[in-house]
Amino acid sequence: MKDVLNYLEIENKTIYKCIVLDIINSTNTFVKETNLSDKTVVIADYQTNGRGRLGRTFISQKGNGIYMSIVLKKFDELKDITSITCLMAVVISKVLDEVTRIKTYIKWVNDIYINDKKVCGILVEGISKNNQIDELIIGVGINVYKQEFPIDLMDKVTSLENNTNNLLNRNDIIIKILNQFEEELSNYSSNNFRKEYRGRSNLIGKIVAVKEKETSYIAKVKDISDDGGLIVVVNNEERKLYSGEVERIIIDKNNVN
Ligand code: BTN
Repeated sequence: MKDVLNYLEIENKTIYKCIVLDIINSTNTFVKETNLSDKTVVIADYQTNGRGRLGRTFISQKGNGIYMSIVLKKFDELKDITSITCLMAVVISKVLDEVTRIKTYIKWVNDIYINDKKVCGILVEGISKNNQIDELIIGVGINVYKQEFPIDLMDKVTSLENNTNNLLNRNDIIIKILNQFEEELSNYSSNNFRKEYRGRSNLIGKIVAVKEKETSYIAKVKDISDDGGLIVVVNNEERKLYSGEVERIIIDKNNVN
């Protein structure tokens, strides 16, 4: 049975102030346009214009997913967009492993996969003042319940409910994510999340098609660097990517030279 988002339960079980909206264009846009305090989370039941990385749309059907944005304002140490994206990817992957009892993977840089389908996307945006990041908006979109996706996405995306018989409840998942996020943040300086990120990557060792700006090329993924770059080898030459994306995995074996 579907659930109802409950801000009181989330506030009672986390340190976050919680705003639940029935409908909004995008929770990330809402946070950008509203002056909210540190450790606030905005959650929508439905987004009419959910945004993804590279200007894409994130399908956000009513009642079917988690569409939320976390406000992070006080920085005692430098936190950049890529590192927080990686940290949040680790948080989500751990929580989804627990609630589904299925192994999830991180697809560089900001997607969580179950088998070969995307179940979650992360969009971290920064607001700068005097050339310094003053506020980070950490947007998370998770397909929770079974739903009909557009034809062109059907074989690329999935939902949690499609992959587990466990009872799902969005409030429980959100509470787990917020608490796990706090735990990882408190260990930020240990850099443990970077090792976890690598360990949960579904790309290392694989032959992939990479798209960078307008060009596509084939590369072997060697590693992910500490600063979140994808290290690939193309024609025996090493490159580190910070933008662009892996369009598809071509060879899925770890022992290809
Ligand atoms: C991606 O797939 O590239 C990232 C998707 C991020 C979607 C979430 S849903 C909540 C928040 N609000 C948005 O408009 N986007 C993020």
